[in-house]
Parts: sequence; structure tokens; C-alpha cells
Amino acid sequence: MAYATKYVSKIADVIDINMGCPAPKVVKNGDGSKLLLDLEKAEKIMKTVVENASVPVTLKYRKGWDKENIVAVEIAKIAQKVGISAITIHGRTRTQFYSGTADLEIIKQVKQAVNIPVIGNGDIINEETAYEMFQETGVDGIMIGRGAFGNPWIFQKIAYFLETGKKLPDPTIKEKLEIVKKHIHLAVEEKGEIAIKELRKHIAWYTKNLKNASEFRNNINKIETQNELIKKIEEYFETL
Ligand SMILES: Cc1cc2nc3c(=O)[nH]c(=O)nc-3n(C[C@H](O)[C@H](O)[C@H](O)COP(=O)(O)O)c2cc1C
Repeated sequence: MAYATKYVSKIADVIDINMGCPAPKVVKNGDGSKLLLDLEKAEKIMKTVVENASVPVTLKYRKGWDKENIVAVEIAKIAQKVGISAITIHGRTRTQFYSGTADLEIIKQVKQAVNIPVIGNGDIINEETAYEMFQETGVDGIMIGRGAFGNPWIFQKIAYFLETGKKLPDPTIKEKLEIVKKHIHLAVEEKGEIAIKELRKHIAWYTKNLKNASEFRNNINKIETQNELIKKIEEYFETL
């Protein structure tokens, strides 16, 4: 297990192995998406984690390292063979980082190649793109990344649309304010006031495209306490 622990994170009752991270500091150690260039090592890691875990093990990965090395289907088959419970595939290569568009065709091929649940990931930003992922690929579930930045109600909106075919409205400014405050409260409860710094980017996402947002962001960038931050946010939302 010691060999494998640096590649895994335990989320609730699942261990998720990540072979998708493109960050230079991660791949320079041979981790994250770099493992897509070494299928033997990737298999060894998955097998070791599965054999030693007392909870289901899942895998998240990209379609390959670059366009010459597309290994999405091979990795899916290896994962299934060694006992991975479900896989999430992001339809980009490592060298694409977050550019271009996610490849739904490769996600469809992965879905057709294995029987374990396949979760499709990449570029889901609203009801239509969520629907398209299901329609085009046949995946069992979807994962949303950047689309949730400053937009955590996206999950409810997409679930409602997929169930009913109808769209929920965006939250009102008043509802948005309550969500932002709850986000701050939960983050500080979890990490302490050190979380305030990290919250700045979330507040920037929440207020994107709102009136005088850049001036507001400049105003909050030096704040270090929860009370002061909430006060400034309430004052700003009053002006909207
Ligand atoms: C700032 C940032 C941080 C991320 N951190 C993680 C992470 O810790 N674990 C992970 O599996 N994916 C992480 N991802 C990747 C996303 O889960 C997702 O695969 C990717 O953004 C593509 O999906 P999207 O188009 O919906 O954003 C991160 C992405 C971004 C932009």
C-alpha cells in the first residue's frame, strides 16, 4: 500500500485514483496524467490499491498523454480487469491541459469497452451540455468541474432538467448572497480563517459579470476575517 498511497485520495467511502492531473509539479514526479505513458505502472498502482482497500476504488483519468498516445480504452479495460469499481474519463489529453474541447467520441468508445460504470467529464457547463454528454456517449453519469465555479446550483439545475425536461431559473441575488455566505461559513468551519484567502477566487467567480465586480474584488482582497468579509459582501450585494 505504501507504494500506492501517493496517487490516491479518500473521498467519503471511496478511494479515487487520479491519473488525470496535468500540473507540471505532478507530472514531473511521474504522477497524475504521466501514468498514462506507463500502462504497466498504472496497472500495478490500480491493482495494489484495489487489493488493499476496504472501500470501492475508482479511477479518474484523461484520454491520453498526447494525440500520439491515446490510451483511454486500454486503461478502461485494465481498470475493469483489476477490480476498479467505476471510472471517470476526461476527454482531453494531458498536453491539451484545458484547451480545445472534450472528445465525446473517445468517451463513447470507453463506455462501449467496459461493463463498470463510466462517468463522462469535460466541458459540461449547463443543461444542454449535460444532456449532450449522456446522448452522445451513453455514459452512466457525468462529472462537472469548472462549470461549478461560482455556480454550485448547476447540479440542481441539471438534475431537474434531466428529470423533467424543464429549466429552473438561476437563483435571485438574495438567494445567491445566502449561498455565498453559506460557502464562506462552511469553508471557515472546515479549515479555519486561513480559508479566507482561498475563498477570494470563489467570490470572484460568484460575482463575475455583476455590476462593479472588479472594484468590489479589489476591496475584499486584503480581508482576513470571516466577519469582515461577510459584512463587505452584504454591503456589495445591497447595491445590486
Ligand atoms: C482548478 C482546477 C482544479 C482541479 N482539481 C482537481 C482535483 O483535485 N482532482 C481531480 O480529479 N480533478 C481536478 N480537476 C479537473 C476536473 O475535475 C475536470 O476533470 C476538468 O476540469 C475537466 O472538466 P470540466 O471541463 O467540467 O472543468 C481540476 C480542474 C481545475 C480547473
